[in-house]
Order: sequence, then structure tokens, then C-alpha cells
Amino acid sequence: MLRLAMRKVKKEVVELVESAKPKRKRQRTRGDKDEEPNGPACLSTHHTFHDPGDVTHLRTLLLRWYDLEKRELQWRTVASTEADVNIRVYAVWVSEIMLQQTQVATVTDYYNKWMKRWPTVSDLAAATLEEVNQMWAGLGYYSRGKRLHEGAQKVVSELDGQMPVTVDDLLKQLPGVGRYTAAAIGSIALGHVTGAVDGNVIRVLCRMRAIGADCTSPAVTEALWSLANTLVHPERPGDFNQAMMELGARICTPKAPLCNQCPVRSHCLSYRKVHAKQEKTSRKLLGKEDVKPPALLDIEDCRTDGICPLCPSQPWDEELGVLNFPRKPAKKPPRVERTLTCVVTRHGQEGEDEFLLTRRPNKGLLAGLWEFPSRLLQEEKSEEEHKGALCADLSSLLGVQVIGSSLNYVGEVVHVFSHIHQTYVVHTLCLRDAGAPTQTENAQWLSRSALQEAAVPTGVKKVVNLCDLQKKHTSAETKRRKKGDIREVKKRPRGVKKATTNKNKQLSLTSFFKTTKQEP
Ligand code: ADE
Repeated sequence: MLRLAMRKVKKEVVELVESAKPKRKRQRTRGDKDEEPNGPACLSTHHTFHDPGDVTHLRTLLLRWYDLEKRELQWRTVASTEADVNIRVYAVWVSEIMLQQTQVATVTDYYNKWMKRWPTVSDLAAATLEEVNQMWAGLGYYSRGKRLHEGAQKVVSELDGQMPVTVDDLLKQLPGVGRYTAAAIGSIALGHVTGAVDGNVIRVLCRMRAIGADCTSPAVTEALWSLANTLVHPERPGDFNQAMMELGARICTPKAPLCNQCPVRSHCLSYRKVHAKQEKTSRKLLGKEDVKPPALLDIEDCRTDGICPLCPSQPWDEELGVLNFPRKPAKKPPRVERTLTCVVTRHGQEGEDEFLLTRRPNKGLLAGLWEFPSRLLQEEKSEEEHKGALCADLSSLLGVQVIGSSLNYVGEVVHVFSHIHQTYVVHTLCLRDAGAPTQTENAQWLSRSALQEAAVPTGVKKVVNLCDLQKKHTSAETKRRKKGDIREVKKRPRGVKKATTNKNKQLSLTSFFKTTKQEP
């Protein structure tokens, strides 16, 4: 009996490997070439769709749900109604770049404003990077806007204003466009029949086919692309891919999936596993243990003797249910940085306070964006050296000598980037008179309203909020003192570390570093 079962598995494995060969060739894209699989992704039929009838059924269920439930989004309308292919590709390109690391709800307003201002690739190419950054302000990951701008300039100067129209060319010719983005644009704007695997799709497919190995491994990546290419609807590839993304974003969510509303749960091995357990429990409760459940291919049925590169290395965790998948490698902890920053203000000619801003370098984090004069704190330098360096920067910017004791410590602001845990150690410097005009390519004075409009990173806005809170707190305290109320004020605004006029009590930069080390 056992021998018979083993022979059957072996036969299935051989069949699968054989049938995978021509299919792989047909589905090859440039992206595939870049990430050559380590041999066949999996020798089991378990993680694939073996029956073409299942594939057709899944497509039908998913698209039926999408047609009823999809969100009306401007780029979707453009993709399905715009006759000009150049505009279609441009519009979907912009949407896909904005949607990288940002949710649909946040993107929609930015997208609509962007397309109103730059409706064609030539319009975008004619804009300045400053304008692009300004439009992008608040969306985060600013390099995306910069790449769109660079790409548009390349299309105009090198491709005669014509957007690439194949998945290969999109990938090769547009900066910031990788395998997923090229496939998404190709399928949505151009109807190319290719799957598109983003984070949402990874989750859906891993759960559906019980793929529990590290989802960033080359074997899993290849298996997922291969699955997506098998499943994609040949007549509606763009809709199919967006339906998969939408399913991942709204139903098959990371932490609280709505399995009972999932249109394709009948094809989901994880769902089946959870429900088989539930059914078993209820059979037990009803005293029907001896009644045999229907024979279903279960998650443990990947019978490749522990060599399957798609199976989890750890056993199924009952408590997690479908959240067993996908599995990711542990995240690297973000780099911890501390930055000394100084908010310099003066009374502007319009009677409004103005802030001094300097431009960041053109490469690296927040390239070319405006911020308050700052110095990254390095452990090997002393507190005095850091402050001295910042004062020297300020002196040369303002044309007056600034000394360390004129900076007032306000508090700290934490801003977490994807890979950096940044703490701004905030000081202020209020100038009584305007000082030198200070309007260069890399330094400018901005009023509060201009600052709100400008391309400044979120961290800068948080610093302004901290200073405002501090100011409010100080003036309330001064008023109270004037009234003769000398009770200690216990409540400080949230996020404000105690600021004191006694410089000796101020936390030293050396001790800041100590605090850093204790942070998780
Ligand atoms: N995420 C990335 N692209 C998307 C799209 N076109 N629709 C919904 N979510 C997405």
C-alpha cells in the first residue's frame, strides 16, 4: 500500500518536472532571467495548481468578486478608457510608483493632483525637481518622485517622448521600475499576459498554496512568479493582477484576514487546514469521530521527504491559523542615528516668524530636500565638537558669530524611516534682527505657511510641532508665574522632554548616546 503511494508521488513529481519545462520557457520574461531559479522550484504538486479546471474556476471566482467590489480608482479608469497608449502607460507608471510602500487611500489625492498638474510624460519632464519634491511632500520615500522625474526626462530626451511598451523595455529603460512594477504596468496598461507579484500577492499565494519557506528566498520567489503566471487570466491580465492585489489588501490581510468573505477560499490550503481542524473538533463534540471526513489534500501532503524548498522549516502553529503563511526572515533592526538640529528663527519683514532651512545633499537619504541646519552625531566626537561644528555652520550661513551657549535645548523628536531610527536632538536659536539675507541655492528663509507647503520631510514638521508645544508650554508657565502661582506644573505636553534654563541640567550629548544604546 505504502509502496503504491510512494510510486504515485514519484510519478506525479516526474510529470510535474516534465510539464514545467516548456511552460517555463513560454513564460520567460527578462525579470525571470535576472533571478534564475535553483532548479525546479518544488517537486511536489502540492504548491501548484495541477488541474486546469481549478485555475479556470479560481479566475472566475476572483474576477466576479473584483467586478462587484473593486474600488474606482483614477488610474484604473485611465487604463480601461484612455485610447492613447502613451498616456495610459504614463498614468499607470505614476500610480504604481506612488503605490510602492504606500496604501491606496493615501495615494489617491496625491495621484489626482499630480495628473492634473502633469497630465503627460512631457509635462513631467518639463517640471523642476523642486516642484516634484513639493508635490511629493508627505508621501515619503522621496527617491520615488525623483526617479519618476528622471524617467520622464529620459523618455523625452532619449525615446522621443514615447513610453516603453513592453515589459522588458519598461524594466530596462525606466529608473525605479523593477520586475513587479514592469509586470504591473505591462498587464494593466498594455494587456500583456504576465503575473505580477507584490507583497499582497505573495501573502495570498503563500496562504493559498501553503508555501511556508522564507518568502524572500530565490526558490519561493520563482515559485510565486510561476504560480502568478499560471493563474493570470489571459484575456484580463490587468484586472486579474489588480484583483489579486486588492484581495491581499482587503481580505487576505496580514493580521486579520476575513477568510469567510474570501471569494477563493475553496482554493486555499491554509483555509482548508484551519477548517478541517474546526470540523474535526466539532465532529468530536458531536460524538461523530468515527465518521470519515472527505479526503482532501492537506498541508502535510507535500510528500517530498523534507527536501521541498517551499515547505516551512517549522511545523504548523494551530494558534496562528492562516497567519502561518507567509514566513519572512527576521527583520534587520533599523540603524540608530541621532542628529543635532537647530531651528533658527527671525522676525520676517511680513511680521511673520521665518525659519532657516538648508538643503540636503543630492544623493542619499532625503536627497535634495530642505531641513533645519543639522549635524549627524558621531560617537567618536565629543559634545563640544558637535555643537562647535553646528555653530560654525550657522555662523557661516548667517554671517554672524554663533556660540554654543546661545542654542536652547528644546527636546527630542523620533522619526522612524524604513531602515533608520532617527532621533533629532532639537535646539532653537532666535535672532533679534534679520542678519544676512541668506538666500542661496542651499539655504533659504521660509515663513511658517511656506514651510507647510515646501518639500520638507515629515521629521522637520515634527520638529516644528515640538518647538510650538514647547513655546506654548513656556508662555503658559510664564503667565502663571507672573500671576504668582508658584505651584509646580506637573503636566508637560507629550513628546517634550524637560527643557530647563539651567544649562547644567540639560542632558549632555554624551548621555544622549548612552540613552541610544538602551533603546530596543
Ligand atoms: N497596489 C499596487 N498596484 C495596485 C493597483 N493597481 N491596485 C491596487 N493596489 C495596488
